[in-house]
Amino acid sequence: MNTYIGVDLGTSAVKLLLADENGKVLSSASESYPVFYPHAGWSEQNPNDWLAAVERAMPRLLHGFDGACVRGISFGGQMHGLVVLDEKDEVIRPCILWNDGRTQAQTDYLNDKVKDIVKFTANGAFAGFTAPKILWLEEHEPENFARISKIMLPKDYLIYKLTGAFVTDLSDASGTLLLDVENRNWSGDMLEICHVKRDWLPELKESYEAVGDLKRCYAEKWGLTKVTVAAGAGDNAAAATGTGNVKEGDCTISLGTSGTVFISRDKFIADAGAQLHSFCHANGRYHLMGCILSAAACYGWWTGVLQSDDNAREQAGGERYMGVNNVYFLPYLMGERSPHNDVHAKGAFIGLRPDTTRTQMTVAVLEGVAFALRDCIEVARRGGTEIKSARLCGGGAASPLWRKIIADVCGIPVEIPAVEQGPAYGAAMLAMVACGAYNDVFEAAQKIVRVKETILPDAETAKKYDERYAVFTKLYPACLLYTSDAADD
Ligand code: XUL
Repeated sequence: MNTYIGVDLGTSAVKLLLADENGKVLSSASESYPVFYPHAGWSEQNPNDWLAAVERAMPRLLHGFDGACVRGISFGGQMHGLVVLDEKDEVIRPCILWNDGRTQAQTDYLNDKVKDIVKFTANGAFAGFTAPKILWLEEHEPENFARISKIMLPKDYLIYKLTGAFVTDLSDASGTLLLDVENRNWSGDMLEICHVKRDWLPELKESYEAVGDLKRCYAEKWGLTKVTVAAGAGDNAAAATGTGNVKEGDCTISLGTSGTVFISRDKFIADAGAQLHSFCHANGRYHLMGCILSAAACYGWWTGVLQSDDNAREQAGGERYMGVNNVYFLPYLMGERSPHNDVHAKGAFIGLRPDTTRTQMTVAVLEGVAFALRDCIEVARRGGTEIKSARLCGGGAASPLWRKIIADVCGIPVEIPAVEQGPAYGAAMLAMVACGAYNDVFEAAQKIVRVKETILPDAETAKKYDERYAVFTKLYPACLLYTSDAADD
């Protein structure tokens, strides 16, 4: 049977998955790479580390499988990263990542001085978006800016290296702030404002479109024959696809390094306060999204502090604190995107007492992330978007305790897809559509994606969480004095 490879280019690791045409996952492999934090609030990665990780993982993924059956490959990638190449196609400097907070001045300039930014792009500026990074580069590293010949997003670097095609897809392009999202085209106004030449930018494709073939050198190295490469998507649009979130109002909550609330919309819509992102979806339509910068990253940080990798032990007995925990956690380890748009926001434990337990603090971390995701859900609700349930994906979705907390804090049923590797699975599905195995993303989702478990909110606990959420919403403003830029290095 024909098989397809999905690649999720994450922040901590690249995750590869091999699936057959019916969506059965045959194998998976993952390889990690470092994130560099050269200054407080900065985060960078070396694009060649991504490629090297794919090269290390691919033989393990394909081991024992017939390479001649592999028809297609596609990618879901961490969004917004600025990858710049010179005219010799050399990487000019490390990629500035989606959770990098160095561009407050450029973000303020775009929001305050460019009056029509939301009209041009459907979005306000956030520090992690690509456009403010381009302005930062021009101001702080003019010698690097002067060398730019190509600008691309992280997964597009992989596609460029693997196929030679200089392309991006519309879902990922939406997060550059250079795209006229409604009309699915680059915004001439934004290019002018950011001093970007049109030929620096990749050709735009729908996520499910074929963009070329895998170069022969890679195909031979990996024992493959002719492999079609599809444009792929930003990791959130890929995760939505992989969790079957393609119809109007469908919602996916992702608990990866970042956390997102992703809502499919058939028609273009911009959030009135520009707190949620309004982006193109991988299905040819649109979506709204709230993004919190640290989700599973908070849990990873906390277990690092505890020097523990035994999740079952750390979370054991955590249920007894649900709805009655008097410890709060603010999850703003890397500042915050939605809804606060504040690069200086900080994390905090609040409410510690002599009887506070380790488990209680662990539960507070999981709850703090859930409350921050609810912040995004509330913005969507206020804007008239109804959210009836959510599918969960990302590393954090493996925790039964966190699943329950999300269901009760958000007051909605939470569905667990049979395949939890959302972005990689979605990427494989996009490759299937590009190869003609399915007519479109809707058909692929309907035929392939299955839910294995639904967690219903417990009415009583959800009510208690409503009260605690009301307290949580007061904590960020209350901490502003401490978390202002004066508290930064
Ligand atoms: C979305 C965002 C993050 C990254 C993480 O806007 O910045 O979800 O895509 O990979």
